[in-house]
Amino acid sequence: MRRHRGSRTTPRGETSTTALTTPVLTRPSVKAGHVTPMRSVPSHIPRPDYAEDGEPKLRREPLVKDAETIARMQIAGRLAAETLQYGGSLVAPGVTTESIDAKIHEFIVSHDAYPSPINYNGFPKASCTSVNEVICHGIPDDRELQDGDICNIDITVYIGGVHGDTNATFFAGDVDQASRDLVRITEECMYLGIDAVKPGEPFNVIGKAIETHARAHNYGVVRAFVGHGIGTVFHNSLQVLHYFDPRDKTIIEEGMTFTIEPMISIGSWRHVMWDDDWTAVTADLSRTAQFEHTMVVRADGAEILTKLS
Ligand code: MF3
Ligand code: CO
Ligand code: CO
Repeated sequence: MRRHRGSRTTPRGETSTTALTTPVLTRPSVKAGHVTPMRSVPSHIPRPDYAEDGEPKLRREPLVKDAETIARMQIAGRLAAETLQYGGSLVAPGVTTESIDAKIHEFIVSHDAYPSPINYNGFPKASCTSVNEVICHGIPDDRELQDGDICNIDITVYIGGVHGDTNATFFAGDVDQASRDLVRITEECMYLGIDAVKPGEPFNVIGKAIETHARAHNYGVVRAFVGHGIGTVFHNSLQVLHYFDPRDKTIIEEGMTFTIEPMISIGSWRHVMWDDDWTAVTADLSRTAQFEHTMVVRADGAEILTKLS
């Protein structure tokens, strides 16, 4: 008897039509580990306005930046990129996200910069580390990375009065092909979004480019977390959606600075929040990946600020 494509015989002799399309969860979900107290930053390093009490005060700023601000953002962006490269080099089985974050913290403060996440609305650590089904804002803790994990590291630094924000997803050891595909396509989604940036176009061209590529691979585009305007403010009033919303008619202007940071999942785009009120996981616990760059809009398109020189 010929087998129908997409169906197979299970060990119990029953025929399953869903076995090839619905992967069975064969690994344990990520559990919250122990989080050590908030890190402190040497007092000689200039701090953002939320550093003392956790409350961002300045929330609005001009969305179009002058040349002098952009020059400072280039410096912040390069340091964020260097930090991300360093943090990613530390990802390996048996390593805790806490120990990676401790080294990231040392790296950033040794460059006389402030790790922007520290005390931003109370966040305790220098970076976000988001493993497997964690979409974003994972808090570094004493969980050891497992062989086969994927781990996003999100770095934001504050130096020269401005922020630079970038992230990437890294492999711990031997990662399965489905996760490798997810990570590759997610990075492609980010670059397709960046390539769509042109002054005079609506912001929704970004989400359209990202969502089209993700859907072609049957992936979900997370909606609850978006890219953002950035500069002297970590997250200003500008929102950058990663899915297509025809109602978003805001126009991209030369000199605007913002992030594009798509979160793409193998399954559901819906999220569930952990009790820590930070860690967002996919509702179906499917794996999810993310990449992020900060950019400035030039006459001919986006110039990435969070790049290595
Ligand atoms: N870097 C994240 C972003 O891309 C924000 C982290 S906020 C924190 O927007 F408080 F969780 F660190
Ligand atoms: Co960001
Ligand atoms: Co970020």
